[in-house]
Amino acid sequence: MRCPRCRHENRESAHFCGECGTALGRAVPCPHCATLNSAGQRFCDSCGQRLEAGKASDRPREPRAYTPRHLVEKILVTRGALQGERKQVTVLFADMVDSMHIAERLDAEEWHRLLDRFFQILAEGIHRFEGTIDQFTGDGVMALFGAPVAHEDHAQRGCHAALHLMDALRSYAAGLRNRGLEVAVRMGLNSGEVVVGRIGDDLRMDYTAQGHAVGLAARMEQVAAPGSVYVSEHTARLVGGFFTLRDRGTPAMKGVSTPVRVFELLGVGPLRTRLDAASARGFSRLVGREEELAWLDGILARVLESEGQVVGVIGEAGVGKSRVCLEFVNRCRASGIAVHEAHCPAHGATVPLLPIRELVRSYLGLGDGDGVEAVRQRVADRLHDLDPESPDAPRLVLDLLGVPEPDAADVSPGGHERFAAVLRRVLRLRRGGEPVVLLLDDAHWIDPESDALVGELTVAVRGTPTLLVANFRPEYRPSWTGGGHYHQLSLAPLGQAASRELLLELIGSHDSLGDLSDLVRERTGGNPFFIEELVHALAVSGSLAGERGAYRLTAPLESLTIPPTVQSLLAARIDRLSEQAKHVLQAAAVIGKEFDQPLLQAVLGLDDLELAAGLGGLQEAEFIHQVSPYPEPQYVFRHPLTREVAYHAQLGEQRAQLHAGVAAALQKLRVDRLGEYAALIAHHWDASGRRYEAARWQRRAALRVSSIKLRGRRPSPAR
Ligand SMILES: Nc1ncnc2c1ncn2[C@@H]1O[C@H](COP(=O)(O)OP(=O)(O)OP(=O)(O)O)[C@@H](O)[C@H]1O
Ligand SMILES: [Mg+2]
Repeated sequence: MRCPRCRHENRESAHFCGECGTALGRAVPCPHCATLNSAGQRFCDSCGQRLEAGKASDRPREPRAYTPRHLVEKILVTRGALQGERKQVTVLFADMVDSMHIAERLDAEEWHRLLDRFFQILAEGIHRFEGTIDQFTGDGVMALFGAPVAHEDHAQRGCHAALHLMDALRSYAAGLRNRGLEVAVRMGLNSGEVVVGRIGDDLRMDYTAQGHAVGLAARMEQVAAPGSVYVSEHTARLVGGFFTLRDRGTPAMKGVSTPVRVFELLGVGPLRTRLDAASARGFSRLVGREEELAWLDGILARVLESEGQVVGVIGEAGVGKSRVCLEFVNRCRASGIAVHEAHCPAHGATVPLLPIRELVRSYLGLGDGDGVEAVRQRVADRLHDLDPESPDAPRLVLDLLGVPEPDAADVSPGGHERFAAVLRRVLRLRRGGEPVVLLLDDAHWIDPESDALVGELTVAVRGTPTLLVANFRPEYRPSWTGGGHYHQLSLAPLGQAASRELLLELIGSHDSLGDLSDLVRERTGGNPFFIEELVHALAVSGSLAGERGAYRLTAPLESLTIPPTVQSLLAARIDRLSEQAKHVLQAAAVIGKEFDQPLLQAVLGLDDLELAAGLGGLQEAEFIHQVSPYPEPQYVFRHPLTREVAYHAQLGEQRAQLHAGVAAALQKLRVDRLGEYAALIAHHWDASGRRYEAARWQRRAALRVSSIKLRGRRPSPAR
């Protein structure tokens, strides 16, 4: 044991240091960084943590106690709608290597304290990326990303959390190493489907693994070398390019008969956005956006006259907002206009001010690899050039960039307002009246701090040759969309001709493809992201052979399965609805692509107000739209895939009940047209598992068909 005072290495069982006589047994390990401090010290001399906490906390490891409040609220508020759902998730297992051996070397209280801190670090890292801890496994945890609340980027969140945890645990282990304790952690990740079971008041959740999603994650962890993170091929497929991975082959794993390729997670990769990933795969040629680009050119013309403008490009997920903006700014660059871009990552709210930092770095010409000194110098020079009247501007900007000056006082009081003032001045004082385009990409993921500063920017561009373009999904409603200089560009899905063009480019026109192009087009509703993902999934599964743009169909397709990427994206959007709106959506999904209000009301048993609130929420979030208000309000799903995801995410039992409800409601509401609806009623009884009822209505439908045929054959009356 090492002496905390003179660092002399003593026998493990020593009570006093053989070199300086310090009592070793009474040394106090820091609960935060594990450094051993001399008895009597009140604070850790390594990290400043208070040491007088007394006994190790006996805080029970109750989910409600360790889950952050905002997550607890999110889960409990929508609990009813989350229970019994299929979810695409990433499962993470983390485990302390050789924990028994370490436990043997420590007294019970100290071991308890060490574990407590270990779990605290794990919980903090997992919650940071909005994962939930499902269970403590004695010397580790199992966590889920994407459940109970769905996240479209669950695999990326899982990997970010694993890397973050490795960093945090490495520094904790360094403190322990000084005390002769070797603590290492290994982690494993896998992505797949789970079913969220009951969620208790204490937030305990039952998950049923589907397709070994959980078991395989545990295997990943078991084969991982100490200090490393292994991910399965399923996770690797979702994060390739966003993270750097090393192929570790297909090690034999207990209970896994088909070989699974394993990768070691090394760090963050070169790609940041989904569009980066698409570009790395090879962009499809831009189709069908000429009008939108011409419209943007028109706005730019005003900007060149020093009339600063703000444009919001709005549209459903995957419709091509980022792509059209990229095309526009590339054209601006090509004509010599300066462009500065900022991207809001999907887990952006966990790291405040990221997009503003990116914008400022680009504006001031700071390179990614610039060292601290170079950044300080460049910020000072550039800001002095731009605004010599604001001597504290460099300090505020450096603070924002996370590079505070060594002797700088704390700038936090009023920091936001003062920084906003700097932004305004910098925009106004730009020399030479050169036009600038600022692009804020994927603003639906912006964090509140950045959002407030973007609000300031939208005011500051007035009267300057600046164009601020932001793109976002309809669920985000920025506060800065007013004013005569604000314009909105609503991006609709691709039309038939453009979708066909895109599909021709992606799959080609080989005879074997048959009507695949039309099938994909109808299914995806002209959403280019869905089109690309569906084609990609067909190629990965082997249904399509050959090369992009020249595929052949290997066997007739029975159905088109929804790729997990699209499924996660839509499920995450659905989970952001209120519980009531989600229930309405689920029932509507069972009724069909089109549905009317009285039928929905009969199935759900809601009163007028409740139903109106649910339908209103769904229209606002652009899941459905009203096709006719008369004679009774009729709605249609905007996107066929939303309906499919809302339908398939429900468990069989719930769906069966809803189908039975629809059949019964149809019998009641269509009493004067039962013949016409017999086949539909039979379908709903069949899907509810009520075979007898289904057969009865099928017979009725068949009788009607034959009577129509007979009527058709009857000779027409003689004139
Ligand atoms: N007009 C188009 N022609 C060809 N490909 C397109 C077109 N629009 C979009 N794409 C492709 O579709 C994919 C999705 O586009 P993009 O990322 O721009 O969607 P988005 O609306 O920004 O989605 P999100 O809401 O998730 O941010 C990208 O790979 C993009 O290259
Ligand atoms: Mg986008």
